[in-house]
Amino acid sequence: MAKHYYIETMGCQMNEYDSNHLSRILEDSGYLPANEPEKADFVLVNTCSVRAKAEQKALSRLGRLVALKKKNSQLLLAVAGCVAQQRGTELLERFPDLDLVLGPREIGRFKEILRKAENGGTRLAAVNTHRTPVSFMGGFEYFRNSVKAYLTIMEGCNNFCSYCVVPYVRGRETSRPPREILEEARNLALQGVKEITLLGQNVNSYVYENTRFPGLLQAMNELKDIHRIRFTTSHPKDLSTEMIQCFTGLDKLCPHIHLPFQAGSNRILKVMKRGYTREKYMDLIRELRQARPGIAVTSDVMVGFPGETDDDFELTLDLIRNIEFDNLFSFKYSDRQGTPAGRMKGKIPEDQKLVRLDRLQRLQREITLRKNKELVGKIIEVLVEGKSKKGEQLTARTGTNKVVNFAYNNIYISSLVNVKIKRASFNSLWGELT
Ligand code: 5AD
Ligand code: SF4
Repeated sequence: MAKHYYIETMGCQMNEYDSNHLSRILEDSGYLPANEPEKADFVLVNTCSVRAKAEQKALSRLGRLVALKKKNSQLLLAVAGCVAQQRGTELLERFPDLDLVLGPREIGRFKEILRKAENGGTRLAAVNTHRTPVSFMGGFEYFRNSVKAYLTIMEGCNNFCSYCVVPYVRGRETSRPPREILEEARNLALQGVKEITLLGQNVNSYVYENTRFPGLLQAMNELKDIHRIRFTTSHPKDLSTEMIQCFTGLDKLCPHIHLPFQAGSNRILKVMKRGYTREKYMDLIRELRQARPGIAVTSDVMVGFPGETDDDFELTLDLIRNIEFDNLFSFKYSDRQGTPAGRMKGKIPEDQKLVRLDRLQRLQREITLRKNKELVGKIIEVLVEGKSKKGEQLTARTGTNKVVNFAYNNIYISSLVNVKIKRASFNSLWGELT
């Protein structure tokens, strides 16, 4: 009987990219996908530890999955991602039934590690932080019918923002060779992919020998059959003029940037060790809007950083009103193990964080909705991604990364079409083919 696998992915797009490759390796090793963990012979949880809540979720999920081993002793249970990396062997002690612990930089060795585990090998904690990101090329030439794909171009982060666990978990910045990235991109194009999102914790500091990020984007822009290029995440302090000019010069580069600002108060930004001021951030947005009028700007922000006063928080709201982000991911600050902020005085009580978060989110909802409504009546080019969840409509995305649904009679999946926007809500737009 064929063996089955089940992968659960938490956290960021880099984890999604990794899970995708783990699936390929499993399928290449004879496993078929299962719809639920109860039906699988191999279960893997790809975890995130960027915020306390994500880590708790990962640990409690693992706790529940371990129970499956009681029913099926043959089951192999694995944990990957940032929690795996950070806690390593500690997880094997805490969950005696866990078979595998796999850090993000060990995924390239997964095939070999899987073999060992299948053959009743030792319970492994593979958590190297210095290995360069691995190439996934070759041997996986089968068709994956998707319009868009992620492509990790670098691993790690050198910034050490005072609240962030990423540099401790994912190690230092390591960029993949452009040759390898472009080969992977061409391969994706051959599989029918039209849109590629380049991934890294800090893509603006991508560097491999003489190639920097703008150079890589330029090379990506020349790829045949790729219609759209996106990237995430950018750091304001590393966003060069040359990079901003890419938005003018490169036609395939989508008019969207995700540029986390984290806080609107210069005092807090300094303690966060972000390396820019609110004025500098606002200048960058101005330059971006000049370089590509209509560019969508999204961001990450935190409330309740240690020592954040009401005045600091008001400055965050003020910046949000000023910039008018298209969308904003907002979080309550949480202590992360080993970070300087975790040891800072002036912790903000949870209920106060919640009040601030709520005010911030209400403000942003208004802005997002207003901006979406401004699109009603406009004709916009969208890339059709597939059928909507309910299946009655097609779902597509604008270059600015907004979801548009529209009725269809012919199938237009994976093509660029023009739609006229008829209706807008906070989450999505509805249109009509023109
Ligand atoms: N607490 C809350 N949010 C955090 N983030 C990173 N570290 C923390 C933390 N300790 C948020 C930042 C980052 C996003 C991915 O997660 O806003 O941009
Ligand atoms: Fe964390 Fe700062 Fe690096 Fe982003 S840039 S991953 S917030 S340390």
